[in-house]
Amino acid sequence: MGEQPSDTAGRAHHVAIIMDGNGRWAKKRGLPRSVGHQRGVEAVRKLVRSLNGSGLECLTLYAFSSENWKRSEDEVDDLMNLMRKFIKSDLPEFIANNVKLKIIGDWQSLAPDIVEMLEDALAKTREGTHTVAVALNYGSQQEIVRAARKAANEGEITVEALQKHLDTADLPPLDLLIRTSGEIRLSNFLLWQSAYAEMLFVDTLWPDFTPAMLQQALDDFARRERRFGGR
Ligand code: IPE
Ligand code: IPE
Ligand code: MG
Repeated sequence: MGEQPSDTAGRAHHVAIIMDGNGRWAKKRGLPRSVGHQRGVEAVRKLVRSLNGSGLECLTLYAFSSENWKRSEDEVDDLMNLMRKFIKSDLPEFIANNVKLKIIGDWQSLAPDIVEMLEDALAKTREGTHTVAVALNYGSQQEIVRAARKAANEGEITVEALQKHLDTADLPPLDLLIRTSGEIRLSNFLLWQSAYAEMLFVDTLWPDFTPAMLQQALDDFARRERRFGGR
């Protein structure tokens, strides 16, 4: 009954990904940015499929930042329409694959029809065994301010009190943060939660990111020595 190597103390429970590089993927091929985003959705689909039975409890995906509204109206429309299409086409598969959907960020202020679709998807995936958290209209600074306000309303602001009000409060602590596309920055993603997360920056553009690459990242993670300030 020996334990599998992947089930040692070093196993990651919560991985987050900044899915960056769709635009550059398209540009390299002389295609419109919208095609890069479509291919990005396909990469998400494959990754989510690979999670069932993988042992990973939570995957958090940065899909749309609070700052992404600065893009052209056309690109924002494209992204919102892709979201509508994705929820519609993939919800049955989420349910079949035991995915429990979670949304973080200020998603309630998205278009009313998207909010409705998301509420429906959240309700229908409630029984899932592993979480896919999608960051939509998400900004970490805004999240921290929201949490601090709530904590202040209840009394003293402490680390624990604030943490309790973050959008990620019910998720396992973040173990590993991955960013694709070669950029080495956080772009307002999970700033608080990254305090002791391991980080991995890869040059791969998001549409080229595969489940095997995630598995490699998980294997590498399991070999890292985490210290949390102790010795
Ligand atoms: C990530 O790809 C997707 C979103 C931010 C929505 P980008 O669109 O940022 O692609 P690059 O960074 O321009 O290549
Ligand atoms: C971060 O990527 C947001 C998402 C991946 C959704 P950006 O492409 O928006 O980040 P910057 O502008 O390069 O920092
Ligand atoms: Mg980008």
